[in-house]
Amino acid sequence: MSKTFRLGVIGSGQGSNFVAIAEAIAADRIPAEIALVLSDVETSGILAQARDRQLPARFLPPGPFRTKLDEDAEQSLVAQLQAAQVDLVVLAGFMRVLKGGFLRAFEGRIVNIHPSLLPCFPGLQAWKQALDYGVKVTGCTVHFVDAGIDSGAIIGQQTVPVLDHDTPETLHRRIHQAEHELYPRCVAALARGEISVHGRLVFWKQPS
Ligand code: GRF
Repeated sequence: MSKTFRLGVIGSGQGSNFVAIAEAIAADRIPAEIALVLSDVETSGILAQARDRQLPARFLPPGPFRTKLDEDAEQSLVAQLQAAQVDLVVLAGFMRVLKGGFLRAFEGRIVNIHPSLLPCFPGLQAWKQALDYGVKVTGCTVHFVDAGIDSGAIIGQQTVPVLDHDTPETLHRRIHQAEHELYPRCVAALARGEISVHGRLVFWKQPS
């Protein structure tokens, strides 16, 4: 029997994408197991959600910087994920930029979800950027992580309409709902080996 595909999930926030993935695994929609959940925020929802499900969940002290991990923290992150033998690192609302050593250790095996249709509106509060710009359609994107900000090869996208009376909150809520469909779908395809990558281009194998 082949080895189960192992996920390492990293997040800083409430963890609703983590929950969507954990529920999809429990419902046999993703052939994978969650090997480890890590967060740079001790009180985060994602750690609480993981512990509720009896999954290994640890706080990773991030060090003194606000937008990145310090050297020790990044080394510890890599070591913990390697010790857990993860096949894929799933960023689920992780609010710090990850750099060289981490990217090299898991090259081509790190994915993220972003709340816009990239390459539009990278960076923070993408739903607000979309609303302020006046686009009529936005959405979410699952992509591989590279050294840039939200710039890696795109795996999947799901559209969300922008409605006339949307506020940042209502639009963000609908994008979040779309994320909960898209992320498990993309992680399932990766776990099944149905994704191939050619430079920036990502192809989905048709299910046989
Ligand atoms: C999501 O909106 C995702 O697009 C962004 O961070 C948020 C995480 O939300 N990268 P949650 O913690 O999964 O609820």
